[in-house]
Amino acid sequence: MKKLLFLLFIVGGLCLGTNAWGQLLPKPASLKAGNGVFVVPENLGVKTNLKGNDKTRLLQAVENALGVKTGKGAALELQLDKKLGKGRERTEGAGYGPYEGYVLEVTPKKVVIRGGSAAGLFYGVQSLGQLAKEGKIPAVSITDEPRFGYRGFMLDCSRHFFGKDFIIKQIKEMARYKLNRLHLHLTDAAGWRLQLDRYPELTRLAAFRTETDWTKWWRKGTKEYVPEGTEGAYGGYLTKADVREILAVAADNFITVLPEIEMPGHSQEVMSVYPELCCDPTLPAGKPNRHSDFCIGNEASFEFIENVLKEVVDLFPSEYIHIGGDEAGKWAWKTCPKCQALAKELGLTATKDDSVEDQLQSYFIQRVEKIVEKLGRKMIGWDEILEGGLAENATVMSWRGEEGGIKTVKSGHHAVMTPNSYLYIDHYQDAPQYMPEAIGGYQPLDHVYSYNPIPKQLSKQEASLIDGIQANLWTEYVKTPEHCEFMAWPRLLALAEVAWTPQELRGDYEDFLDRATQEVLYLKGKGFHPFDIRYEVGNRQEYREPVQHLALGKKVTYHAPYSERYVANKEATLTDGLRGGWSYNDSRWQGFIDKGRVDVTIDLGEPTDIREVYATFMQMPGPEIYHPATIDIHVSDDNEHWTELYHLDYPATVDEPYNFKDFGWRARKGSVRTRYIHYQANCSEIGGFQFTDEIIVR
Ligand code: ACM
Repeated sequence: MKKLLFLLFIVGGLCLGTNAWGQLLPKPASLKAGNGVFVVPENLGVKTNLKGNDKTRLLQAVENALGVKTGKGAALELQLDKKLGKGRERTEGAGYGPYEGYVLEVTPKKVVIRGGSAAGLFYGVQSLGQLAKEGKIPAVSITDEPRFGYRGFMLDCSRHFFGKDFIIKQIKEMARYKLNRLHLHLTDAAGWRLQLDRYPELTRLAAFRTETDWTKWWRKGTKEYVPEGTEGAYGGYLTKADVREILAVAADNFITVLPEIEMPGHSQEVMSVYPELCCDPTLPAGKPNRHSDFCIGNEASFEFIENVLKEVVDLFPSEYIHIGGDEAGKWAWKTCPKCQALAKELGLTATKDDSVEDQLQSYFIQRVEKIVEKLGRKMIGWDEILEGGLAENATVMSWRGEEGGIKTVKSGHHAVMTPNSYLYIDHYQDAPQYMPEAIGGYQPLDHVYSYNPIPKQLSKQEASLIDGIQANLWTEYVKTPEHCEFMAWPRLLALAEVAWTPQELRGDYEDFLDRATQEVLYLKGKGFHPFDIRYEVGNRQEYREPVQHLALGKKVTYHAPYSERYVANKEATLTDGLRGGWSYNDSRWQGFIDKGRVDVTIDLGEPTDIREVYATFMQMPGPEIYHPATIDIHVSDDNEHWTELYHLDYPATVDEPYNFKDFGWRARKGSVRTRYIHYQANCSEIGGFQFTDEIIVR
């Protein structure tokens, strides 16, 4: 009997342990289950050595997390213990901050949280909030600290405007998952979203439009802004009062708001208000401006930037200021007399790796870094700021894969990893036909979760320069707050766990999925609109199993090249039996770019009876992937004399929505005997990209 009781005790303890793990997201670094539960009183006595504002915000955090009032007593102790984590502080970088670790002890009698800083205590309180169910907290002992200091979410407020209330709502729940950076992309071609005293025209003239739909306005439309107050005007901006309110809530939730002001590219809205700042000052003010870039040869550009950044740093306390730096067009600099005179004065000449314009961009970024530093802050930018040489103290956000981040840390600089292949949450998260329109791509929850931010080729020292990670939500196709939440959640939960939890504790996706599902229900209860992961369809059926057919493994000769960016399985792609998934960038789809065409011959090795030849093409208008306009299939016995088997003219158009279509020939009856098959697909005048995954022969 005694033995049985002992066994029950052990099993009970283990169950409770599993239960406690099962409730925490992100998973803590270590957890030991105890026995019994702590019952949370309605009026919870809190004892703490915190003082001032830290005390106020921690008491508020306890009330929010547990849904109770706090009062006198010591049922919960919050002890600031600076010895905790001593020697483990991060000392530099965008992930720098106080030590965020904590120790949480829950017994049936009391709860004690020790934190290395107020932030650490705050995260202990967040764990407590997740453990509490119906007023009970299981006894537990947790020792926890984050893997990375920078755990971020970027929201694009330019393509569609998202205002103060929405941002504050997100901040409050980001904190529950221990995220600590909110990067606001405040300016871009679609609208300037920050009120400035010195340049009120930016928000008066370039923060509104009448067309809400991105494709209609930007890709096919006028790209025209309308003045504030115009009837039917759509858009908006954050006033300084809005920003202060956001910052106050962010501070209470231990979140740093990182402001981004785009330059030198993505600045059409600035150029439409101040055409004198682009390379062609003759363009009329107030009109859509095809120039995206600041003129680098014009000193007025730097004056403007300094004035803007001055107001930005007056408003935002963030140690880092994001200056964009991505995707500058650079084409206008090539023929601009001022830019070219500057290049000459600087003695710039093209090198193997960098054009004169790349070096002009580098000159620009280095000057902007000096401005940022003069204003007492540090600069961070997208990975293009590496081009032409990185500014002295810059931190890089690596978005075009991980290469930028790797190069950055190998040169001794800090990096934040935000690779589009894992952390771009503007991509579809499930089968696109069941999702609201998105920009393209396929970024399901398990893929975000599978990301390991430390590339294998880095030394320990280099790896220590990776400050953390960030998920980016660009909003070209995200029009409403509801859609924005749908795209962000639950993928931000995966991001949170990747950023916080030690890599070795993240092996079990199903375990994460269970916890994420609970959190989706929690978020719904809080009035959020997450994607309900319980109803996920998953990847394309064809992706899941290799396909058998007569051309499998047969040699393919290319008469026109495939894109170097989308090589898939190179020359083997079209006959390797591996079909693509929902997205063109899953290394199964081969890309044919820039008026490229599919033009290949398959050698079946011997005369073979065939009844069917086809390839599937993807149409995904967001990233400009279109169906082919003509298909031609010829057959031959000797690779010299050809017989036409099939011809199709297809009305390819940018308007056709996302879909997959098979293009090819099927015998009405009987079969055709051949050894060689020549398959051609040409794009139409609309250009764009073509993507196909396999040429299937049966
Ligand atoms: C980016 O996605 N252009 C940073």
